[in-house]
Amino acid sequence: MLPSQRHLFDIPREVAYINAAAWSPLPLAVQEAGRRGALRKGRPWEVDPGLGAQQQERCRAAAAALIGAAPEDVALIPSVSYGVATAGKILAPPAGTRVLVLEDDHSSPVLEWMARAPAQGFVVEAVKRPADGDWTAAVEAAIARPGAPVSLASISNVHWADGAVIDLDRIAPALRAIGAALLVDATHGAGMMDLDVARIDPDVLIFPTYKWVLGPYGRAFAYIAKRRQDGVPLEQTPFGRRSVSSERVPYFADLAYVQNARRFDMGERDHFIGLDMAATGMEMMAGWGQGAIAERCAMLTARLEDGLAAAGAALPRRSLRVPHILCVSFPGGMPAGLVDALAAEGAHAAPRLGRLRISPHVYNDEEDVDRFVAAFARAARRAA
Ligand SMILES: Cc1ncc(COP(=O)(O)O)c(C=O)c1O
Repeated sequence: MLPSQRHLFDIPREVAYINAAAWSPLPLAVQEAGRRGALRKGRPWEVDPGLGAQQQERCRAAAAALIGAAPEDVALIPSVSYGVATAGKILAPPAGTRVLVLEDDHSSPVLEWMARAPAQGFVVEAVKRPADGDWTAAVEAAIARPGAPVSLASISNVHWADGAVIDLDRIAPALRAIGAALLVDATHGAGMMDLDVARIDPDVLIFPTYKWVLGPYGRAFAYIAKRRQDGVPLEQTPFGRRSVSSERVPYFADLAYVQNARRFDMGERDHFIGLDMAATGMEMMAGWGQGAIAERCAMLTARLEDGLAAAGAALPRRSLRVPHILCVSFPGGMPAGLVDALAAEGAHAAPRLGRLRISPHVYNDEEDVDRFVAAFARAARRAA
C-alpha cells in the first residue's frame, strides 16, 4: 500500500486535517512552484518568452493524463462553473426536453441550466435523493421515465454533500442510447477514481485543481469530446483563432477557430505561476497512481468507519460511497457547534447540508484517524 506522504506537506503532527473535499493543503513542491513563479513575475525581463506556452502544454498534458484524455481535447479554464458556462454554449438542449441534475448537487453543474431553461424552453429536472442512497439507480430511472425526452445529464460523479458514487459506466451508455449528452462534474473524482474518458465517453468532463489534485485556486480543466469541439467558446481569445498575433500585421489574419479544445482556453491562460503549481500537483498524483491513492484512502475511511460507528455515528453503506469520502449523518440534526468543537481539537472536516463530510488524502495516516475519532467520540458524548 502507498505509505503516508505527509512528509511532502507542511502539516503539524497534532493536526488531523481530513478535509480534502473542501480544499487540500498544497504539497511543499507546489508551494515552491508558486514561489518560483512569483519571483519570475518580479523580473519579467528574465523570463523566457516560450515559458507560458511550455507551462500551458505541460499542465494540459498532466490534466489529460489523470482522465485518459489526449491533451488537445482538454481546455485550460479557471473554474468548474466556467466550464459549465462553456458547455451551455455548445450543448444547447432543445426546447421541450429535460436536463437532468442531481438534487442538491453543487451549484456549478446546475445553475447554468436553471438560468438558461426559461429562454431555451427546456426543463431542469432534479433527480431526487433516493431513500436507499443508490443515486445510480435513481438517475437510470429518471432517464427511462416516459415523457419529455432527456437531452442532457449535467451531474457530478460523486455527490459532494454525501460522498455517494454515481456509476458513469452505467449512466453514460444509458444516455448514449437515447442520444442525450453527458456533462460530468468530476471535482471529487478526477485523480481519485478511474475516470477514463476514452471508455466513459462523456461530452464534457470538468475538474478543478484546488481540492483532490493538490493545486491552487483558479486552475481547472474541461475535457471536450471531439464531436463537441466545433462550438463557439465562452470567451473570444486570439489563441482560439488560427492567426491573430500581436507581433504581425495584419493582426486579424485568420479568424477561423483552431480545431481542438484549445479554442475553449480561458483568457489570460498564460498564468505561468498557477500553471506550474497545478502541473506539479497533478504530476505528483500521477506518480503515486490513482489505484494506490484510492487504496490508501479506502484504508483510512474504513478505519474511520470502525471508530465512528463505535461512537454511535450514522454512516452510509460502503458500496454506495466513494473510497475517499465518508459522511456522518445526524437523523436528529447535527449537534450545534460540532465542527468548531472538532476543529478546536485539531480535527478538521466540513459540514455539508447537515452531514459531516470527512475526506482523507495521501497525507493522512492512522494517527490522524484515531485523533479524529477520539475528538468525535468526546463531542458526541457531550452532545448526548
Ligand atoms: C462538486 C463540486 N463542483 C464544483 C465545485 C467548485 O466549483 P467552481 O470551480 O465553479 O467554484 C465544488 C466546490 O466545492 C464542488 O464540490
